[in-house]
Order: sequence, then C-alpha cells, then structure tokens
Amino acid sequence: MERHAETAAGASLTLGSGEAAALREAAAPLTLPERAHLDLRFRSAPWRRVVEALEPGGRLVDFGCGPGLLAHLLFRAGFSGTYLGLDPDSRKVDRARRWLPESPARLFSAGTVDAATPGAFSQAALLDVLYLVPPPARTDFLARAARALTPGGLFVALTSGGGPRWKRRLDTAQERLAVGLGITRGGGVVTCDGAEVAGLLTAAGLAGAAVVDVGRGFLHGFELVSARRPLT
Ligand SMILES: C[S@@+](CC[C@H](N)C(=O)[O-])C[C@H]1O[C@@H](n2cnc3c(N)ncnc32)[C@H](O)[C@@H]1O
Repeated sequence: MERHAETAAGASLTLGSGEAAALREAAAPLTLPERAHLDLRFRSAPWRRVVEALEPGGRLVDFGCGPGLLAHLLFRAGFSGTYLGLDPDSRKVDRARRWLPESPARLFSAGTVDAATPGAFSQAALLDVLYLVPPPARTDFLARAARALTPGGLFVALTSGGGPRWKRRLDTAQERLAVGLGITRGGGVVTCDGAEVAGLLTAAGLAGAAVVDVGRGFLHGFELVSARRPLT
C-alpha cells in the first residue's frame, strides 16, 4: 500500500468557487431539513478532493449514493460520462430524484453492490458507506463491488474513520447518532480507516491501492483510497 500526503495523481475534474451557492440553488426543490442536510454534508467533507480523484468521463457507479451530492458535484465539475447512483435506502433514492432530474447520463436506483452489472463500469465510488457494513461482511462486500469494474477500472473510496484518535472518536459518535436517529440506515456502526479499506480493495483483487489523507481542515479523519482492477 502506498501512502501519499497530497492529491491523487491524474486529477482533471475540478470544482470552481461558489459551489455552496450553486448547491443551494439546485437543491431548491427539497424541503428545508433536506437542504440543510445537503449543505452540512457539503461543508463537512472534502468534496473537492473526491471529485478530483475521479476521471472526467466513462461509466461511473456510486455505491451508497445517498441523496445525490456526488452526482450533483460531478456534473458541476465537468464530468462527461454516465453516472449510476445506487442506494439500498429508497428514501435516499427518492430524494436524489427530486432535485436531480434523471437522464440517460444520470440515473438513480435502489440497490446495493449486486445491482451493478459486472464489468460494466470504468469507475466506482464508495463514499462514507463501509462503516455501515459489519466488519465480517466487508471483504465479501468489496469483492462484489469491485466486480462492477472493467479491466483497468478505477475504484475510489472515502472513509472518515482515520486521523488522530479524537477524530476517530468523534466520527464514531456522530455516525452512531445518525443511525440511531434513523437519518442513515445500516447494520450498525463500526468505523474504518484508509489502511483497512486499502487492504480490503487489495483482497478484492484490485492493484496499486493508495491512501491519501484528505482530512486537514475537517472535523473527521477523512482518507481517500484508490485502486484499479488489473488489465488482465
Ligand atoms: C453517510 S451516507 C453517504 C452518502 C453519500 N455516499 C455521501 O457521501 O454523501 C451512507 C449511505 O450508505 C448507504 N448504505 C448503507 N448500507 C449500504 C450497503 N450495504 N450498500 C450500499 N449502500 C449502503 C446508506 O443508505 C446511506 O445513504
């Protein structure tokens, strides 16, 4: 596993300034609490770094897409490919559809990793989802997710469970609260850091797993992990 202090290589999607205002405008069809949740999510996670880690085109599947923030930001950043957002929580899928109109280039569907056609996607995103998957199930979960990729395809995962001990504790407390209040549905909360995710991606047959610390300036210990399906 490689560990980098700065950005992942090959970034070409970028977000300009004024994204908070653009998000508020785009999210106008949602209720006030839903807009507030999106605004908080946007401000509290390293979205610029996430978007930069992805490729500007191709077929992308977003596992655990939630209410669609990545879909919104990707197209704002100039993404020219097709996007499929999957989430097992149909409330999240409904919410995404209410502010992000679907088109052949941008679709949302209820489902988890098995809903993605094997070998059909050149990129896969998994952003802040793995902590909801019980640890004994994670190896199998990521093996099934990685199957969605074409040879050479890119997998990008964001986890908030890294960084110093106080950030890890805060992360656990906040995620437990979200599940306890029913804001997020999942099988429980066991946080994970980038090293664990890199190990799981490697076990899933992906190569070149690299961890980037993207938590600076945020309350959570965000780490971005990327790896590719080998060409052969
Ligand atoms: C913290 S939210 C992150 C949403 C979005 N990826 C983001 O970063 O804004 C976690 C999401 O994972 C979804 N989730 C929970 N269990 C899942 C599973 N087994 N497979 C895929 N998604 C899952 C939840 O429904 C929720 O929408």
